[in-house]
Amino acid sequence: MDLRIFDSAAEIARAASEIFVQHIKKFPNACLGLATGASPLETYRCLIEDYQKGLVSFRQVRTFNLDEYCDLPEEDKNSYHSFMKDNLFSHIDISMENTHFPNGNAADMEAECKRYDQLILSSGGIDIQLLGIGVNGHIGFNEPSDVFSEGTNKVRLTESTIRSNKIYFQDGKMPTYAVTMGIGSIMNAKKIILLAIGEGKAEAIRRTVKGELTPNCPASILQKHPDATLLIDREAAKKL
Ligand code: F6R
Repeated sequence: MDLRIFDSAAEIARAASEIFVQHIKKFPNACLGLATGASPLETYRCLIEDYQKGLVSFRQVRTFNLDEYCDLPEEDKNSYHSFMKDNLFSHIDISMENTHFPNGNAADMEAECKRYDQLILSSGGIDIQLLGIGVNGHIGFNEPSDVFSEGTNKVRLTESTIRSNKIYFQDGKMPTYAVTMGIGSIMNAKKIILLAIGEGKAEAIRRTVKGELTPNCPASILQKHPDATLLIDREAAKKL
C-alpha cells in the first residue's frame, strides 16, 4: 500500500483529482469507480474546477458507482444517484448514459447483482476505483463480516453505518439495506485510491494498514492489492 499523509482535506482532494485527470488525459474513455459520502466531495469539486478550466473532458468517460440504497427512489434527494448528479455529473460534460449504478429497487436482486458485475466486466473493468472508508472499516457497503464478499450484493447496514449516515435523512427514515459492489469487484480494479479525513477514521485506518487481514475490517483486504494508494490527513493517521 502506498500511504500518503497530508495536512488538509484540500490537499488530499488535489492529489486525488490529479491522479484522475492525468489518467483521463491519457485514456479519454477511462472507466472510473466512484464513491459517495463526505470524503470524495472536495475531490469532485477539484474535478469540476479542472473541467471548467478546460483541463479535462469527461465526454467519453464511463463511471460505475460503488453502491446505492435499497427501497429509496432514484429521484430521492438522498439517493446516491442524486448525490452524483448534484456533486459531479451535472457540472461536467459526462454523458449520463455512461454513468452506472446498481439498482437498489430491482425486483430480482440476484439478477440485478449479476447484471452489474457483468456490465463492469464487459466495460473492460475499472481503471481507478475511488473509496472512502467507514468507521467500522467498511468499503462500499461491505460491512464487517466473517467472509469477504465477492461480487455485487445486497447488504443489511450495520448500526454503526446507520448512525454515521442518519444525519443526511432529516425525516429519520434511513434505508436499512443497500446494494454494493463486492470486495472481489473492488479488488479487481486496476488501481485503488482510498480517502480518509478526520480522527473518526483513525482506528479504521490503523486496522487497514497495520491490522490483521480480516473480513472483520473489510478495508484490510487492500493490503493485498498491487496498486492501492491511501490519501489521508494527519488526524486519520493518528494511530499509525
Ligand atoms: C459511499 C461508500 C461508503 C463511504 C464510507 C465513508 O459510496 O461506499 O463506503 O465511502 O461510508 O463515508 P464518508 O466519506 O461520508 O465518511
